[in-house]
Amino acid sequence: MNILENTYTLNNGTTIPLIGFGTWQIPNGEAAYEATSLALKNGYRHIDTALVYGNEKSVGQAIKDSGIAREAIFLTTKLPAEIKTYEGALEAFETSMANLGTDYVDLYLIHAPWPWSDRGSDHTEGNILAWKALEAIYATGRAKAIGVSNFDVKSLEAIIKAGTVVPAVNQIKFYIGNTQDEITQFCQNNDVLIEAYSPLASGAILGEPHVQAIAEKYGKTVAQVSIRYTIQKGTVTLPKSTHEEYIIQNADIDFVLKNEDMAYLDGLQDLVDF
Ligand code: A2P
Repeated sequence: MNILENTYTLNNGTTIPLIGFGTWQIPNGEAAYEATSLALKNGYRHIDTALVYGNEKSVGQAIKDSGIAREAIFLTTKLPAEIKTYEGALEAFETSMANLGTDYVDLYLIHAPWPWSDRGSDHTEGNILAWKALEAIYATGRAKAIGVSNFDVKSLEAIIKAGTVVPAVNQIKFYIGNTQDEITQFCQNNDVLIEAYSPLASGAILGEPHVQAIAEKYGKTVAQVSIRYTIQKGTVTLPKSTHEEYIIQNADIDFVLKNEDMAYLDGLQDLVDF
């Protein structure tokens, strides 16, 4: 079976393809339309966007024009990190739905526990209000699953304690050398699936000699080893590219990294940053 057809089952029973197409940093318009269309053409059935990426309209249009049934595509979008009120969250969801031109999303996430301008600040109360709004949306069926992104243990614990629905996923920055073990372990213990964004460290890992050596051993590219690594760590992975050649290559990862090589890669902490 093509790896693009492989799925995990979320804690609410929904299935999610384990490779998703990331669209962060792809501008709205021709670029996002073209990239999303290429991903769908080449078998990707899971697309990840966000209101704040500004490209929902083009992503939605590409999905429509693909001719692929909406039900055959897993679509994620996100509530802007700055919105920490119940009403604000409901409004932002409507904006995303209008942008995407769809009746439902498969996954709706709180983009971050704090505004980007004030990383690390405490918004427990606001996150709980936003989460209640996501639960209300989930109850209508217009989001088939709900979750969070960039959450640390403390902010995720607060949501789990205050809510009635346990987040289905936590989407975090995750790549070789940046495996965020504390939050990853916590999520695994609580049946919250980790989604790895920037599995190539936004491109920073591509010239890294330690990973290059492993790639040569397998006759694969650094990108393929890096993406395969995130899958073998049990995450959903969200590589992004605007080039068809890379889009194809990034899903051509039907090989297995041996345990000893996984252990070696696990040991390469703080390899690259971006
Ligand atoms: P581009 O978008 O120009 O194709 P991440 O998935 O960690 O966010 O990394 C995305 C970055 O890595 C983008 O700059 C993208 O370039 C680049 N990239 C994605 N796939 C590959 C690949 N297979 N080979 C080389 N560069 C890649």
